[in-house]
Amino acid sequence: MSGGAKDAAAHAFELTEIDHVAIAVRDLDAAVAWYERTLGATVAHRERIESDGVEEALLEVADSYVQLLTPTREDSPVAKYLDRKGEGIHHVGYRVTDCAAALASMKAAGATTIDEAPRPGSRGTTVAFVHPKSAFGTLIELVQE
Ligand code: CO
Repeated sequence: MSGGAKDAAAHAFELTEIDHVAIAVRDLDAAVAWYERTLGATVAHRERIESDGVEEALLEVADSYVQLLTPTREDSPVAKYLDRKGEGIHHVGYRVTDCAAALASMKAAGATTIDEAPRPGSRGTTVAFVHPKSAFGTLIELVQE
């Protein structure tokens, strides 16, 4: 670990994998078809998450995923993101063994979290989000399988 005294509380957990890179798209079916046709990608999982107002398709890449993400309603955070920034990379999901411990560790290290506590994610995972403003502009998701 690098850094001075202010980093004393940092990093009490391990990142075990890039779980997924999430890409916001306007037309999920068109995006899936494009990834299948041009990259030979395979959809491993598809799910509508009503609480977040999104539908996702997970494309398998070795032990990680590319997550194509589209809003299912106007007030979805992803709808707002598309309006503001257009299509493109939305967040990076890091796989951890204990989401609560990782979230607490990041908070202790000074990160601004969006979720106060872990919550259910897609495909039965437990997740928590960290604000992009405290993470050099990228929304971070902690994912526990
Ligand atoms: Co995600």
